[in-house]
Amino acid sequence: MASSATGEDSKFCVILGAQWGDEGKGKLVDILAQKVQLCARFNGGANAGHTLVVEGKKYAFHLLPCGMINKACKNLIGNGVVVHIPTLMKEIQELKDFDARALERIFISTRAHILFDSHQIIDGILEAEQGTNSIGTTKRGIGPCYSAKAIRNGLRFGDLLHFEEFERRLRELIAWSQKRFGDPRERDTPAQLQLRKALREYNTKYAFDPENGQKGGVENIEEEVARYRQFAQILRPQIVDSVTLIHEDISRGYKVLVEGANAALLDIDFGTYPFVTSSNTTVGSVCTGLGVPPKQIDTVIGVVKAYTTRVGHGPFPTELQNEAQTLEDHLETYVGPEQSMERKGHASGPYSLKPGQQVRVGEMLQEVGHEYGTTTGRRRRCGWLDLALVKYSAMVNGFDSINITKLDVLTGLKQLRVAIAYRNKRMTEVRLPCGYFPSHLEDLKEVVCEYETLEGWSEDISTCSHFKELPLNAKKYVLRIQELLGIPVSWVGVGPDRESMFPVDEAIVRPDGSISASPNFPSSPMRGAMSPRGPSPTM
Ligand code: IMP
Repeated sequence: MASSATGEDSKFCVILGAQWGDEGKGKLVDILAQKVQLCARFNGGANAGHTLVVEGKKYAFHLLPCGMINKACKNLIGNGVVVHIPTLMKEIQELKDFDARALERIFISTRAHILFDSHQIIDGILEAEQGTNSIGTTKRGIGPCYSAKAIRNGLRFGDLLHFEEFERRLRELIAWSQKRFGDPRERDTPAQLQLRKALREYNTKYAFDPENGQKGGVENIEEEVARYRQFAQILRPQIVDSVTLIHEDISRGYKVLVEGANAALLDIDFGTYPFVTSSNTTVGSVCTGLGVPPKQIDTVIGVVKAYTTRVGHGPFPTELQNEAQTLEDHLETYVGPEQSMERKGHASGPYSLKPGQQVRVGEMLQEVGHEYGTTTGRRRRCGWLDLALVKYSAMVNGFDSINITKLDVLTGLKQLRVAIAYRNKRMTEVRLPCGYFPSHLEDLKEVVCEYETLEGWSEDISTCSHFKELPLNAKKYVLRIQELLGIPVSWVGVGPDRESMFPVDEAIVRPDGSISASPNFPSSPMRGAMSPRGPSPTM
């Protein structure tokens, strides 16, 4: 494989989630960050995140770019990001043992918006207000902060450099929030009442997550102003004109790595609106979130989990099992090695797998894939790999190659299913056009998946370090994905460690980057004419 497709030789490489998030982007970003001089974030806030293990110690990054773990790498938080400064400071502080000069390597755009505790409280209030129709946000204040940006009462990092004016506008912003959201309302739940009180008093100590009593915050506005005065002093040298910084670094010949937060189907325009995040998570946002032209980008890698997961609410065509485990699920014979693991996040004893046993596939993906929220312990919704969805995501993003993650989680399933096309419930004989993804949730609910069944593998693959070492059926699974998508697979992940991710070489992709399809595979049903207008919404 041409190493620019793996990102290793790219001048400007972008890594994006191709599904609903939690694809495991962190590992590839972590690997590639070892080889670049600048690592940047362009969207989202502390709603994203991954844990990195450096020199035996775990670091949870929500805001810091992954380049922080390479002492020779500069890191940039671009204008498209919304930053909760206390969270940022905590992450920098935690890195002190690894690099005493960590702060000096992080630069923040003067144009990046500041996410305040009030935004987090409002996120909680809005979610509670929606009751069963809530989005299921991370309650990190993302939506309210981007709303402030759009209605133009937001404050940016550049404002910290003019502190008197900043203080005046901060007080105004808080007073505005209190007026809008602070007073109790008729049908308020106890959680809402508590959040409104926290906002009225601007006591944010426990406001972010009233159930778990998240520490941090301040007891009143004066403390908040004082805290931000201190942040302004500490961060002043790091607040920069990021457009100049990135363009200067590019002209110096620096290699740039850009890491996306969240994922394509959570994009505010292209995702499953309204069950999406509040930023653009797809490739166009790299340009608007960093101030670089499209021609600057030379490699875009889409990260695709070997199956599909989703947190929060909204339709999910290949779903097998949900958070409450109330779906029927799909039964399959388990043929892999015997194993037993602790169920994380809930106390119902160990989860065991034995050869010959019938397993509920969705539940197995949850348990073996550790598909739980890291802070909440909530189960993620799990389902088969949906390539109709990934095809759409690839069209929007123009992926040069794909990184398949968590292939090992599928080990032991006698047969695997992959959704290769969508049909409409009422017109099952007609495939929806390749790459089309319904924009309306009612239409998405109407979708039925056309599945292809592939043979699974029984061998443990978690120690494989080369594509050649994978069992034949695991190779076939990977090959079939790239054939159906028409995009080369550049990396495959088979376990949690950095070493468990390997680049895929010419064995399956010709040196010119074209795909050497196996003669055993029929031609791709996904290649085909796409109707320019798409199907009618009533299909
Ligand atoms: P928000 O970004 O906190 O406003 O949440 C909006 C929706 O995006 C919710 O369904 C979240 O669960 C989802 N979401 C946001 N960030 C991520 C992520 O990094 N992984 C998975 N889901 C996410």
